[in-house]
Amino acid sequence: MMPATVRRPSAITSDQLWMLMRHLRDYAGIKIDSTQAIISQCIYQRMESLGITDVDAYLAAFDASINARAEWMALIDLLTVKETRFFRQPEAFDCVANYVETLLQQGPAPSALSFWSAGCSAGQEAYSLGMVIEHILRRHQPWLQWHGIGTDISFEAVSAAQQASYPGDALRHVPADYRKWYMVEEPGGQWTVSANIKAQTHFFHSNLLHVNSAPFADFNIIFCQNVLIYFERDKQRWIIDQLVDRLRIGGLLILGAGEDVRWLNPDMRRVQWPGVCAYKKTGD
Ligand SMILES: C[S@@+](CC[C@H](N)C(=O)[O-])C[C@H]1O[C@@H](n2cnc3c(N)ncnc32)[C@H](O)[C@@H]1O
Repeated sequence: MMPATVRRPSAITSDQLWMLMRHLRDYAGIKIDSTQAIISQCIYQRMESLGITDVDAYLAAFDASINARAEWMALIDLLTVKETRFFRQPEAFDCVANYVETLLQQGPAPSALSFWSAGCSAGQEAYSLGMVIEHILRRHQPWLQWHGIGTDISFEAVSAAQQASYPGDALRHVPADYRKWYMVEEPGGQWTVSANIKAQTHFFHSNLLHVNSAPFADFNIIFCQNVLIYFERDKQRWIIDQLVDRLRIGGLLILGAGEDVRWLNPDMRRVQWPGVCAYKKTGD
């Protein structure tokens, strides 16, 4: 609610909105599917925090300065959809479990295992992967190290992921065994991820549109679900190719079900796992 003493902001025209959305697409590579009313609401929220009442004055803030970068980030934080949950697509995590078990059985034993949750939101996807891997290693090869990373364009999401504190109902899709071993109730009723899973899972701010300059590589598993939908088709394909470059030979790429963007990469072979959009990187 705006205090009575603050002047109402000027209304956003469709031209102004269009210009901002175009810049947003160029900057973050993302298309925002929210309604005009929601986008306008986010812009007003930013204007209110900055004490600006004139839309043109707000748009003028998007120049080449460092402050403009910060403002983009703040606006993107409001506009991005961060919906997520633990074990969001259970079959995809079964596919990962099968991949890790097969890797351990077939040998040669890897010296370590790694994963990347690209577009990780508040961390539930990365922590779910950590739990799956930890659970298998604990039974079969407890001496083997693993580490995982999660990246997101939203600072708010990265910060929530690092805190790893979730309300009780966020755990409803966590299998009972994992809940018992890897989730800890905090005073006040929130739940956190066990210290060993947390210590091996790290989160970073990173824009997938600039993935070519990201210092991440050589993963066994890359998970990129429900993120590509926000990009234009050519950007989607470019991002997937970049992810493939950061996968080890034999590594597993998992996209969201239905996010098969009719993309072909000679290094990748489709993994047949019902309901899951998965590819394996071949060595030839
Ligand atoms: C709908 S959530 C999906 C979270 C998780 N992958 C899942 O499937 O549950 C999409 C996430 O992608 C992030 N995102 C959107 N555009 C991005 C970009 N250009 N670079 C990195 N992350 C981005 C959003 O901030 C959001 O947290």
